[in-house]
Amino acid sequence: MFIDRKFPNTRLRRLRFNSHISDLVAENNLSVNDLIQPLFIKENLIGTESIESMPGIYRYGQDSILKEVEELLELGIKSIALFPVIDPSKKDNLGKEATNNANLICESIRKIKQEFQETIIVADVALDPYTSHGHDGLLINNYVDNDSTLDILKSQSIVLADAGADIIAPSDMMDGRIGIIREALEKANHKNTILLSYAAKYNSKFYGPFRDAVNSSSNLGNSSKSSYQMSPKNKNEALHEVAMDINEGADIVMVKPGMPYLDIISLIKETFKIPTFAYQVSGEYSMLKLAIDKGWLDTDVMLESLLSFKRAGADAILTYSAKEISKEINNK
Ligand code: PBG
Repeated sequence: MFIDRKFPNTRLRRLRFNSHISDLVAENNLSVNDLIQPLFIKENLIGTESIESMPGIYRYGQDSILKEVEELLELGIKSIALFPVIDPSKKDNLGKEATNNANLICESIRKIKQEFQETIIVADVALDPYTSHGHDGLLINNYVDNDSTLDILKSQSIVLADAGADIIAPSDMMDGRIGIIREALEKANHKNTILLSYAAKYNSKFYGPFRDAVNSSSNLGNSSKSSYQMSPKNKNEALHEVAMDINEGADIVMVKPGMPYLDIISLIKETFKIPTFAYQVSGEYSMLKLAIDKGWLDTDVMLESLLSFKRAGADAILTYSAKEISKEINNK
């Protein structure tokens, strides 16, 4: 392919001469259509509350979230992913609040849909914001039990779909959950509800700030999610996970975290050629944002990091920087 290309017949700098030329030949671009903004909603909160380990990111009360969604829509961001911070008194070892059809998330989905019907709402399925032990599933003899967790994830998914969630996103990494949830959605006549599977979700320390944000770190303590999330040592296993989830009825698969796992995004996209999303997780965001705020890195590193996802093959990106980046994109 590269044989016989010789200087000066070929001068690669010709196409870098100015930004108009280089834009014309750009292989990848980031658009607001690619961005999904994760949002934290906190029960009984009036107004907003900052999150220490996530500079520039807030928890929203049930009213203030509406204003935020409106601002996002004005900037062209039509998709949001909601994460609950529930009243600690509602956490128990079964995560029962997750299946309450009037819980914080269900009520918030209804309110947002009522005001802004066009918003695409991604609802996370996992028990960690609801359990007193902070795990994504049920603990039996100190082990997260797969099959009994499936039942409760199924109910959680149905209350979310009933409330109006467009996309159900299981992030729990139990085996078989996509199939069980797909079957339940079909039965409940939610035929167009999209399943976005966190198919390749690694057991990552980059989730630290998120766990602060949803107040699950103290519940989890020193306990690890390594018995269900993937080991960072593995790559082929990600293909296995994705193949299973596609067979079980996933419409979109996701890789998480993002930047340390670009090889996985690329491999999945090349192998399966299906819609593939990436999650630039809390720790990735906070690292970059803190260095930007300190003046140690230029603001543009955020956009550069998101372009790396596009290059790797991601169709859309969940990123805490969605709002800020959309302003930059709109101004260019
Ligand atoms: C929970 C969940 C986590 C994230 C999204 N959903 C944390 C975890 O698995 O412990 C992390 C997102 C982030 O770090 O931004 N199932």
